[in-house]
Amino acid sequence: MLSWNRWMVATLATSIVGCGGVIATADDGGSTGSAGGTAGAGGGSAGSATDGGFEGLPCDVGALLQSRCIGCHRNPPTGGAPNALTSRADLLATSSGGQRYAELSLARMKNAAAPMPPGGLLPATEVARFEAWVTAGLPVGTCNSGVDAGMPAPLTCMSTRTWADRYDGSPDMNPGLACRACHAGQNFNGQNPQGQSELGRQYWFAGTAFPGRNERDGCLASPPTGVTIEILDADGGVRLSIPVRTSSGNFYDAALRTRPPWLPYTARVKRNGAVVSTMRTPQMSGDCNTCHTERGDQGAPGRITW
Ligand code: HEC
Ligand code: HEC
Ligand code: HEC
Repeated sequence: MLSWNRWMVATLATSIVGCGGVIATADDGGSTGSAGGTAGAGGGSAGSATDGGFEGLPCDVGALLQSRCIGCHRNPPTGGAPNALTSRADLLATSSGGQRYAELSLARMKNAAAPMPPGGLLPATEVARFEAWVTAGLPVGTCNSGVDAGMPAPLTCMSTRTWADRYDGSPDMNPGLACRACHAGQNFNGQNPQGQSELGRQYWFAGTAFPGRNERDGCLASPPTGVTIEILDADGGVRLSIPVRTSSGNFYDAALRTRPPWLPYTARVKRNGAVVSTMRTPQMSGDCNTCHTERGDQGAPGRITW
């Protein structure tokens, strides 16, 4: 883990993420007790330089791919992505359309009608960073970190703050865990070993928004003010606008506790009124963190992010 850790701190913390926080790794032991069920899967990468783990890429390009693309374009790809984008060789390869993946990626990152990542256009500074590398002719980078993008993505906790695992009536509880499942008394992914429940509060729509895709269970996110989750019905009408708590990233609609008649729904994240990302795939379950887990489940690209 050492080489990965150093790479993360050197690149992610200072360039792409820019939040200045120390980034914890998968085997940092600070996870909450109740969150123990799903933690821990991320260790084990001893940094073997197999499978083109960002081989030949500059660090800032590797960090961009890691934070924005590898959730799906890993090796093997997930989430419906057709190809891996985990090395310079992958980006030099030619797509079926005859374009190299580097140029095609840049084009898709700028294509508002069919953006990559699919949720919406990235901040212009991130696109510019990738574009600079493409324009420079894809020079070989020296960030041979030994990271294997076929391995599970390392877990982070950018705020470095962890929920205290104290049930004192605070809605900031259990960030990242499946809210409704536990309130209903279920033991989703082993997250509720003590069989707790809060039957009167089976919020239909509940979850957590984080600053990164692979934030670990129990990590208290610190969203800026003005982040909201919008829930849209099948006709695209906005049914709910749920504020994201700045103290944890948790969100829930307190009023709606049974299945609404207007499902399936889609959802989007807004920040100060502007759409940041959109879930276009219609869903029937409002327990967001059952799919938006530490590394993503059922095709979801990890956490909901702002
Ligand atoms: C949530 C999953 C997901 C993420 C994250 C994602 N992609 Fe994709 N990508 C897909 C899917 C699904 C497709 C195939 C459908 C399409 O082309 O829209 C695709 C297609 C592509 C293609 C076209 C491949 C071809 O052969 O036509 C490129 C290039 C691409 N993605 C680049 C990127 C880049 C660069 C990023 C990060 C900046 C990224 N993607 C992030 C899911 C994802
Ligand atoms: C049954 C699984 C599942 C559930 C439950 C779920 N999602 Fe998703 N979510 C996905 C999948 C799969 C994707 C990727 C494809 C897409 O964007 O439609 C996704 C993508 C997203 C994205 C876009 C992510 C990005 O960065 O591109 C957002 C935002 C999102 N979901 C929000 C939510 C919210 C809010 C909830 C709860 C109200 C929720 N999701 C519940 C499966 C789920
Ligand atoms: C492991 C089980 C578990 C999980 C996971 C869980 N909760 Fe809870 N929740 C409880 C229990 C037990 C209570 C009652 C004790 C308390 O209020 O502290 C509760 C109470 C609450 C309350 C009421 C607080 C009050 O008294 O006003 C809110 C709000 C809440 N949870 C939100 C959430 C959200 C949001 C999530 C998901 C991010 C979540 N919970 C995940 C077990 C859980």
